[in-house]
Amino acid sequence: MKQGLVRFYDEHSQPATMLDEVLQGLAARPRRIAPKFFYDERGSRLFDAICDLPEYYLTRTEMGILESCAGEVAQLTGAETSLIELGSGASRKIRLMLEAVRPKRYFGIDISRDFLRQSVESLAQDYPWLEVHAICADFMHDFDLPNIAEHGKKLAFFPGSTVGNFEPHEALAFLQRVRRMVQPSGALLIGVDLKKDPALLNAAYNDSAGLTAQFNLNLLERLRSELGAEINPQNFKHRAFYNAARGRIEMHLVSGSAQDIRLHGQRFHFEAGESIHTENSYKYSVEEFHAIARAAGLRPRQVWLDAAHLFSVHYLSVVERASLRRV
Ligand code: AVI
Repeated sequence: MKQGLVRFYDEHSQPATMLDEVLQGLAARPRRIAPKFFYDERGSRLFDAICDLPEYYLTRTEMGILESCAGEVAQLTGAETSLIELGSGASRKIRLMLEAVRPKRYFGIDISRDFLRQSVESLAQDYPWLEVHAICADFMHDFDLPNIAEHGKKLAFFPGSTVGNFEPHEALAFLQRVRRMVQPSGALLIGVDLKKDPALLNAAYNDSAGLTAQFNLNLLERLRSELGAEINPQNFKHRAFYNAARGRIEMHLVSGSAQDIRLHGQRFHFEAGESIHTENSYKYSVEEFHAIARAAGLRPRQVWLDAAHLFSVHYLSVVERASLRRV
């Protein structure tokens, strides 16, 4: 394959319709809308801005950890690797890993076709020594990840603590799918936000600039502009809080008064204070996350934390069948 070219594969068959999912979620109790609907163009821009907020420690802390562990990751991974990024290729994090690991091949997997195309093309341009592949697929869902790169060791990369947006059973299923994708001898490098002082967590999701509130309320803007919902987003308020019993930040949109919203010929009545649950962001101790990894057939090989123990980056390798037989 010529240098600088991108191979594009389309694995994304039938996108679920936003309308169907939203209608179902509004009729459910408690009402909910999935966090994947945050990320239209405006939502993605708001999320990028959130990552730079002083209260949102996650992104800069993870970047600091990656900067200091990249050399060790390269040693653990070795030569002739395929680096598989689950999500976009736009962030500084993947560039850091590409420069440290110097893999032979890069696979970017993302659901957003245009965004994926743009980001992999810029990687192909900037790293002419790299074989670049793009796969349009929804890795968040419960089907097998594409079977890629028959040869060479595989390192999957899933930064940002996006795994925290899954329910724990979904996180387990996701890690199992990643394990199947990188076996027999591959590994996963994954960023996971840690449990900590609830005051820090509450501040990270209730920033003083109000960007997280705009990000949350943008969902209602989408319902109005894309699905034709009769709804006034100003009648709802952003609410985020740490639920210690469940170990997660919860985000909700709370109705400020008794009101009806209408969508697709259906009426949904809200009492004052009733909410739509829009996101969970689970926080894990190192031990809790290791337990999920082990249950998924991944062996914790290394974990790196920042000095204040805010965030963790885990290197998990596939438990090889041969080594299981030897035991
Ligand atoms: C993408 N994900 C890891 C973010 C989080 O922290 O759970 C999404 C987010 N929600 C509010 N702020 C950021």
